[in-house]
Amino acid sequence: MPKKMPDAGVLHVGAPNLYDEDAFIERVRKIFKSGRLTNRGPMVREFEQVLTDYLGVKHCICMCNGTIALEIAIRALGLTGEVIIPSFTFVATAHALQWQGIKPVFCDIDPETHNIDPIEVENHITDKTTGILGVHIWGRPCNINALKTIADEHGLTLMFDAAHAFGCSHDGRRIGGFGACEVFSFHATKVFNTFEGGAVTTNDDNLANKIRLMQNFGFQGMDNVVYIGTNGKMTEICAAMGLTGLECLAEIISVNKDAYELYVSDLQGIPGLSLMKYSTSEHSNYQYIVVEIDENIAGATRDHVIDRLHANNILARRYFYPGCHRAEPYRTLYPDSRKRLAKTEMICDRIICLPTGTAVRNDAIAALSDTLRAIVAQGSIV
Ligand SMILES: Cc1ncc(COP(=O)(O)O)c(C=O)c1O
Repeated sequence: MPKKMPDAGVLHVGAPNLYDEDAFIERVRKIFKSGRLTNRGPMVREFEQVLTDYLGVKHCICMCNGTIALEIAIRALGLTGEVIIPSFTFVATAHALQWQGIKPVFCDIDPETHNIDPIEVENHITDKTTGILGVHIWGRPCNINALKTIADEHGLTLMFDAAHAFGCSHDGRRIGGFGACEVFSFHATKVFNTFEGGAVTTNDDNLANKIRLMQNFGFQGMDNVVYIGTNGKMTEICAAMGLTGLECLAEIISVNKDAYELYVSDLQGIPGLSLMKYSTSEHSNYQYIVVEIDENIAGATRDHVIDRLHANNILARRYFYPGCHRAEPYRTLYPDSRKRLAKTEMICDRIICLPTGTAVRNDAIAALSDTLRAIVAQGSIV
């Protein structure tokens, strides 16, 4: 059973899903008995095996977090020059490239799905482009087939930031096995967490081998360093948390789904508000409650709604405001990006995410929805 967080009287976006404490402590005891704390000990090996089976992939390399996992995957794939990404993503996607001297080329999104628009991707390809990094925003898969066709036609590497998409599927296959590799985040705020953590999944043996070496300083064996590497290892305690979490993942997703359906009915009919839909034919993790506010119809700006919610102890969030291209260093380095990101800017100015997960009770969702309805009824635009 997932554990409920103690009710702190404040509703947060991203409050962690906590797992069965006793099952976790039992695993911690095993770690103490084994005397292994890190360096791919038995707990990490077991976790990687279980994840490999769950995701239906050949390799899963667990990491200390999703950002380092992205950096290592990008380096192991040999990406250089320019890589096309959406600007509507968490800034770590862009940083993982820029940190390695690769230019993130920001591409506009489809305003319906909030995912990178394949037609726009084609317009950004230059002779410096080496890859496309799609992000499965809100756990909804990118247009994987179209992106693959473009990547194949232009000889580009395709990889995915799947930080939001653990437990989701595309064409009936779990996210994890698409592109050259996919990268997950198991951060505390995600549907499935290992406190901090992440993983790279791939069906490519050589790539998996390279990633394993790079996450361990480039060591092959005891004292033979064969690559420039870093420390991307997951600890045993994080793997213990992950194994415990997998035992109740289905239940967490079901709690999320129920919460989503409650929001669908409770927010119905509020003028100018629309709740993002999840596919009914694919698996979703329902980890985000994404609301778009059209201020002209709502009569209240998105930022006014956020301020009022905060005043009512409801810590809703703007996502991914203001967009990577408007954050430093990108705003200064690539000032022209803005001209080609009209849909991204529109969505960045309209979205709020509402609290969900095992920490949010159903009666709190009903009360929150009433508050939201009252805020919009009051309005802010004269
Ligand atoms: C889309 C996206 N990419 C990458 C990351 C980075 O993951 P982490 O926080 O595990 O480093 C996150 C999340 O936090 C994310 O939302």
